[in-house]
Amino acid sequence: MTPRRTAFVDARQMAVLHAAAFERPWDEAGFEGLLKAFNVFGRMIDGQGFILCRAVADEAEILTLAVAPAARRQGVARALVEAAVDGAAARGVESLFLEVASDNAAALALYASTGFEPAGLRAAYYASGADALVMRRTLNS
Ligand SMILES: CC(C)(COP(=O)(O)OP(=O)(O)OC[C@H]1O[C@@H](n2cnc3c(N)ncnc32)[C@H](O)[C@@H]1OP(=O)(O)O)[C@@H](O)C(=O)NCCC(=O)NCCS
Repeated sequence: MTPRRTAFVDARQMAVLHAAAFERPWDEAGFEGLLKAFNVFGRMIDGQGFILCRAVADEAEILTLAVAPAARRQGVARALVEAAVDGAAARGVESLFLEVASDNAAALALYASTGFEPAGLRAAYYASGADALVMRRTLNS
């Protein structure tokens, strides 16, 4: 299970995977817009999942991470996160951030087990009313 780098042509597959993972899906055009940006990078395991990140100077954030329901609990997300960390480190990133809904138990467990630590809270951040937990992983330089 080796994630590959994402490319502009992945926008459609990303939209399909995203729609299967989130109540408010991002469409193909939205992904195309993101993938055009020089500072957006991602990793994909075809048909199973992807992660998309944006770097700014020595920081980066995970924009989204989605794994197909049928591919879950097999280490796909863990592999994607670690591949994104490698990609971020190669860009000179020192801290990788993310926001996760405080009621998303699966994602919270994933991020805790991949070295992310709480770095802040955004109250009632999501449309559902859930808080967003900001998490950070410091990368080895
Ligand atoms: C969260 C998500 C990305 C996890 O993907 P996944 O490929 O199933 O995760 P992995 O198999 O790599 O799991 C890695 C670790 O995360 C934790 N984890 C993952 N899913 C979990 C669940 N449903 N319940 C509890 N812990 C879970 C476990 O610690 C797991 O390690 P283990 O299997 O050895 O116990 C997936 O459930 C998903 O796409 N959810 C919908 C979209 C989403 O919430 N994205 C993240 C938004 S911030």
